[in-house]
Amino acid sequence: MEISPITSDDITQIISLTMEHLTRGDYVADMMSQSAQSGNYFGFKVEEDGEMKGFLTYKRGIEFTLPHPEMLEEISSRFPEKEVFTGDSFYVDSSLRRRGIGRELMRLSRDRMLQQGGRYFLEEMWVYPDGKIPAKSPTDNFGETVYERLVPGFYRELHRYGMCCPVCGEDCRCGAFVRVLELKGDSE
Ligand SMILES: CC(C)(COP(=O)(O)OP(=O)(O)OC[C@H]1O[C@@H](n2cnc3c(N)ncnc32)[C@H](O)[C@@H]1OP(=O)(O)O)[C@@H](O)C(=O)NCCC(=O)NCCS
Repeated sequence: MEISPITSDDITQIISLTMEHLTRGDYVADMMSQSAQSGNYFGFKVEEDGEMKGFLTYKRGIEFTLPHPEMLEEISSRFPEKEVFTGDSFYVDSSLRRRGIGRELMRLSRDRMLQQGGRYFLEEMWVYPDGKIPAKSPTDNFGETVYERLVPGFYRELHRYGMCCPVCGEDCRCGAFVRVLELKGDSE
């Protein structure tokens, strides 16, 4: 198994895995390819026998999957946008989970964000209807939490944007746990 930075050649595969396992819909695919074309798309991928098995991607700026203007304004007023990276997609194949691979993807991404002049990492984490937040523990402790908010029903309008939840389908009951970390390197 290998972990390496994503390149523009990986975007098609990342979109395809996102459609299969994460949020589905043309809107998501369009947003991802637009970000990739603008050069504002970074991250790391996991490969096994030449096959992509996971990734963590992020982009510079403050952005949510769906419009949440109040929270966007609140976060934008507190953190300079040029110092913020927002997590985009986070996925590890089910056969490889719970081995620390997600955490390693986050560690490498954190190091790269700091090198890129980032100071804050904004995460919009899915809270499944059973209350589980799969992305939380793999990304814990990479910095100080400087903002956090649990928003029930965050994805309620997903279907209006042509998107579909991997757990609930069109009628999404998932919430989001929104967190901003002030990133810290291992030596700090
Ligand atoms: C979120 C996701 C990427 C995490 O990937 P992962 O490789 O399993 O992440 P990690 O292994 O670093 O951590 C996951 C869990 O395994 C545990 N773990 C890590 N190393 C371990 C090991 N060697 N042995 C046993 N457990 C281990 C972690 O403590 C963590 O446990 P917890 O969540 O119960 O606290 C993966 O679960 C996933 O793709 N989920 C579906 C998509 C999704 O929900 N994405 C996030 C959208 S916001």
